[in-house]
Amino acid sequence: MNDTLRTISQRTSLRRYQDTPISEEHLDMLLHSAVRAPTAGNMMLYSILVIRDQETKNILSKTCDYQPFIARAPLILVFLADIQRWFDYYGISNVKEFCAHTGLDFRGPNLGDLFISTSDALIAAQNVVIAAESLGIGSCYIGDIMENYGTHRELFQLPDFAFPVAMLCLGYYPEGYEPIVRSRFEREYIIFEEKYRSLNEEELTDMFTEREAQFPSANKYAAENAAQLMFARKTGAEFSKEMHRSIQKAMENWQGKPM
Ligand SMILES: Cc1cc2nc3c(=O)[nH]c(=O)nc-3n(C[C@H](O)[C@H](O)[C@H](O)COP(=O)(O)O)c2cc1C
Repeated sequence: MNDTLRTISQRTSLRRYQDTPISEEHLDMLLHSAVRAPTAGNMMLYSILVIRDQETKNILSKTCDYQPFIARAPLILVFLADIQRWFDYYGISNVKEFCAHTGLDFRGPNLGDLFISTSDALIAAQNVVIAAESLGIGSCYIGDIMENYGTHRELFQLPDFAFPVAMLCLGYYPEGYEPIVRSRFEREYIIFEEKYRSLNEEELTDMFTEREAQFPSANKYAAENAAQLMFARKTGAEFSKEMHRSIQKAMENWQGKPM
């Protein structure tokens, strides 16, 4: 195994950090890794917010589903799917007039733009995760940054076409930290040759054997199996409803409306 594969294999989400700021040199390497990521059409359809202000971290620890460790992360990076600057550039470059002359349909940002800019933002984020790990810096994604769109929009002064799709908490590993590498589902249930394959009942049961074995039968949701517990804790939870509401609100801008 080479160093890169070892880094990928040993990475775990880190939620407890040394109380030391990330050095400027390391921050520069992390941001370098982000901007060197592949990007659709070399358009860099994302922006990255570097958050070091304690008050902002305190707010995020509440608005991102009340996760106190967020406030203790020395560094936070927020990744925005961002097509705003391209449409601003189109605006100052007479693109609308060009379309009128040439018969092209001009349009505002649409769902295709959103998905491709989301891809860009997430790929840049994952480059940061791997680079960080190689520097002894642990990280944890925070999906809850997609909640409370109105609050985050105001907090970060976002324009209409920049949406926060991912957040990373980053910090040096604490002394003596022993990472626990969490297992994954067997590949046969996740990776298919050539065509998609739906799993039958027997395969689904096999797939979840380990999760069911670890399932805590005494739980506050009165769930009787791992599926019921995961639905209660994740898919059917309040944060998930808020995420849906928040994203729906943000998506009102991304319907390709004429500008
Ligand atoms: C999109 C995404 C969102 C996540 N959101 C959170 C989060 O809000 N809070 C948290 O503690 N961990 C979060 N995680 C980390 C996952 O819980 C973690 O990756 C998963 O449990 C597997 O553990 P590992 O990363 O240590 O292998 C998130 C991970 C991803 C990829």
